[in-house]
Amino acid sequence: MNAIVSVTSDWGIGFDGQLLVRNRDDMRRFVDLTMGGTVIMGRRTLESFPGGPLKGRRNIVVSARPDYEPEGVEVARSPEGALALAGDDPENVWLIGGASVYEALLPRCERAYVTKNACEVTADAWFPNLDEDDAWSVESTEPGGITADGVSFEYVTYRHVAREDAPRKPFIGSLLSHRTARSKRA
Ligand SMILES: NC(=O)c1ccc[n+]([C@@H]2O[C@H](COP(=O)([O-])OP(=O)(O)OC[C@H]3O[C@@H](n4cnc5c(N)ncnc54)[C@H](OP(=O)(O)O)[C@@H]3O)[C@@H](O)[C@H]2O)c1
Repeated sequence: MNAIVSVTSDWGIGFDGQLLVRNRDDMRRFVDLTMGGTVIMGRRTLESFPGGPLKGRRNIVVSARPDYEPEGVEVARSPEGALALAGDDPENVWLIGGASVYEALLPRCERAYVTKNACEVTADAWFPNLDEDDAWSVESTEPGGITADGVSFEYVTYRHVAREDAPRKPFIGSLLSHRTARSKRA
């Protein structure tokens, strides 16, 4: 399983149930990477999508509410339950947020695809700062661009180096044009 997230300079990811940065290029990349796969999300993240469940993907939503069964999604009553539902095709499973589900399942991820937006805005939800976590190292950095609002961004892929059960499979991001990896441990 891989995590995918868009963060600001201080690793903020959301405020009042919404994203912090409007970034169309990043949204397109998110669709390219996750299309055809399984996405795991928390109930609040599903409710933040104006169009409901993500099309072309299997949507697994975590909620403890016994009566919560919205159309077009499979509901797991816990993060672990979501993993069990996702099955054994980890390369095709994407952890897409929000903060509570990232926190619960990030230790189970092999990679984190992080879009870093160079701005700071008010947030009430955050992603763990992987630059300060020895369990993660930068595998590659790819130039992004500048959003319509003038925010520059880049794509950074982190590998979970301390994860003992990490499978040794080819890097999916190599399908995209990556620059040479810069290990923070170098
Ligand atoms: N920047 C990004 O890439 C990105 C990506 C995704 C989301 N976001 C942002 O993140 C924010 C939402 O994050 P969030 O943490 O508030 O919400 P969330 O993780 O999306 O959903 C939280 C809900 O998930 C369920 N849940 C979480 N842990 C559970 C557990 N252990 N057992 C059972 N159910 C559990 C609960 O649902 P019930 O209350 O129904 O039990 C909980 O209220 C929004 O601002 C969103 O826009 C940002």
